[in-house]
Amino acid sequence: SLLNARSVLVRNRNFWCTIEKHGSASCFGTDQVRSKLEPTVAMDSPTASQCSFPDLRDVFPGCSSYEDLYNLSIKETDLFWGTLARMSLRWNRDFEHVSNCNMESGLFRWFLGGKLNVSVNCVDRHKEKDPDRVALIWEKDEPGQEERITYGQLYTMMNQVANVLKTHGVKKGDRVAIYMPACPLAVASMLACARIGAVHSVVFAGFSAEALASRINDAEATVVITADQGVRGGKLIELKKTVVAAVGNCPSVKAIFVAKRTGSLVVSSTLDVDLDEAMAKESGECEPAVMDSEDLLFMLYTSGSTGNPKGVVHSQAGYLLYASLTQRLVFDCKEGDIFGCVADIGWITGHSYVVYGPLANGVTTVLFESTPTYPDPGRYWETVQRLKINQFYAAPTAIRLLLKHGDEHVEKYDLGSLRTLGSVGEPINVEAWQWYNKVVGKEKCVVVDTWWQTETGGICISPRPSAPDAEIHPGMPMRPMYGIWPVIVGEKGEELKGNDVTGALCLKKPWPGMARTIYGAHSRFLETYYQPFRGFYFTGDGAIRHKNGYYQITGRMDDVINVTGHRLGTAEVENALGQHPSVAESAVVGYPCNDKGEGIYAYVTLKDGFLAGVKMETELRGIVRQKIAAYAVPDVIQICAGLPKTRSGKIMRRILRKVAADQTENLGDISTLADPAVVKDLIANHQTIK
Ligand code: PRX
Repeated sequence: SLLNARSVLVRNRNFWCTIEKHGSASCFGTDQVRSKLEPTVAMDSPTASQCSFPDLRDVFPGCSSYEDLYNLSIKETDLFWGTLARMSLRWNRDFEHVSNCNMESGLFRWFLGGKLNVSVNCVDRHKEKDPDRVALIWEKDEPGQEERITYGQLYTMMNQVANVLKTHGVKKGDRVAIYMPACPLAVASMLACARIGAVHSVVFAGFSAEALASRINDAEATVVITADQGVRGGKLIELKKTVVAAVGNCPSVKAIFVAKRTGSLVVSSTLDVDLDEAMAKESGECEPAVMDSEDLLFMLYTSGSTGNPKGVVHSQAGYLLYASLTQRLVFDCKEGDIFGCVADIGWITGHSYVVYGPLANGVTTVLFESTPTYPDPGRYWETVQRLKINQFYAAPTAIRLLLKHGDEHVEKYDLGSLRTLGSVGEPINVEAWQWYNKVVGKEKCVVVDTWWQTETGGICISPRPSAPDAEIHPGMPMRPMYGIWPVIVGEKGEELKGNDVTGALCLKKPWPGMARTIYGAHSRFLETYYQPFRGFYFTGDGAIRHKNGYYQITGRMDDVINVTGHRLGTAEVENALGQHPSVAESAVVGYPCNDKGEGIYAYVTLKDGFLAGVKMETELRGIVRQKIAAYAVPDVIQICAGLPKTRSGKIMRRILRKVAADQTENLGDISTLADPAVVKDLIANHQTIK
């Protein structure tokens, strides 16, 4: 049964029919499809839905191509998503309405009235079918030490963590901070939150104690889950120590659960609970909470142009449906596949394509603990060979880095298991794309450059899905995913129609995986995404729609930079620099950098009495590391006499970007500057980037 609940949708040439459970059938044209699918009766017991991998052309029999399916998804949005939601998720109670969304007011609700549990969808239903199927392969830092966790084992682990949380008073709606690298217990912890209806906030395990504390405080998390130490690239990462330092400033935290990774004795706190011991005392069964489709599933902090990072909120049903559908359609992931996304779980890519998407689809997902170059630049490819990975998903930064190390590190390995190669996080340059395609994929794999964001929940623009032989151009994500309607918007907020246009990339139609709000700051949510261009979701990116209708991303249009595929607000770095006693003012911009995508260039003016020099630069770098993370540390610090400002005092970042990029021959109009002489000084002291 495709629709489980009460009817099956079938096609008879140009007609659609529903066959009701009690046996009656009705036929109708496409226009009538929507009304036929609106449910009338609520389900009292869970539906029997098993995750399956049907071809969407069989699900929507009137559609025989990507274009047909795409048009249906845009024109009959509720029919499209409603059918897929009923078909691919297990519900405790069917939803009454597919969507109630408004781009003008920024209100989005999907699958209204529906009840489900995300952890049941990701674990229970696969465990019931095949408890011995491998859910996770933990690819530890040292090659050859991988551990496999079956769906049956993950079920027990997740329930034990859920029971530990309950024993310590964590309730539905409470926030749980997770500060862990990719490992089975991190996944079990995320799912345990989903099991009991708590909201997880995974914080990338590279953030400093201060950055962690500000995220814990913003979310008012009641507990933190961490590990004693992390291991990455042969180095130890003091996770517990960082958590203890953070939690000293977090009054909401009542317990720190500590998992064993290295077993070393680490700094302790009165709030400590040994997670492994606590789990051993708990049952491996935990009744799943029945959640509303729109309850919060998780929040994840990401950088914006201004202020502190914002806690982007995702929902239960809409997010899970979107992450799982994109995971199998973009990557052509089939039952039995081994999916290797090497992102850290601290970022959205890890949430959607290491954890939720693959697990909802019941495939095997790889948790990669190491780095692309440990112990040598062949690590990814040795891992692909050893684990027989079918889909590999990484960031262009890593691909560019490995390209430089030479083909011999790839050619040593048999990569015959690979079918799809994915790229995410920043534009992939044509050279890197070609290398990925030729040297890694041997021109036999489908290469997908996938564009999306923390806020979109899943991939929005990507060469696939499309016809299996549809052309793919290097270096651009090209085609919208089903249900995604990209538009290019001009400076005045007007939609630029036709092809061969450049402007702000916006999305015109709501989709289930979209963020619902910023935690505790809905007005900031509206201001950032829905007010810049009325009636559209503004992505913050610029894009070109080429002659053939394909999309290419040109980069951020706001003060967000993209460093090694990680998003960073220049304001965050400026705030950190400003906390050094010597700093009078600072302005941070990105500059094109082959290795990192964008490098970080900081212009700093010092207060009287402080001296520029190597020591000062080291201190300034140190404060950014302490306040944010190592990846946010500026590559270049230029101490200058003044910053270029307009007469009203606004810093002209355009000029700073040009100087940083060493493009000073065309600075544009500088006559509006309060003191045009500042520019000469900036150019004279410009630091060449190593
Ligand atoms: O600028 C775009 C860039 O990364 C931003 C989103 O960053 P984040 O929320 O951290 O999510 C990263 C992983 C999904 C976007 O606004 N970006 C992401 N993918 C691409 C990209 N830029 C160009 N091409 C891409 N494929």
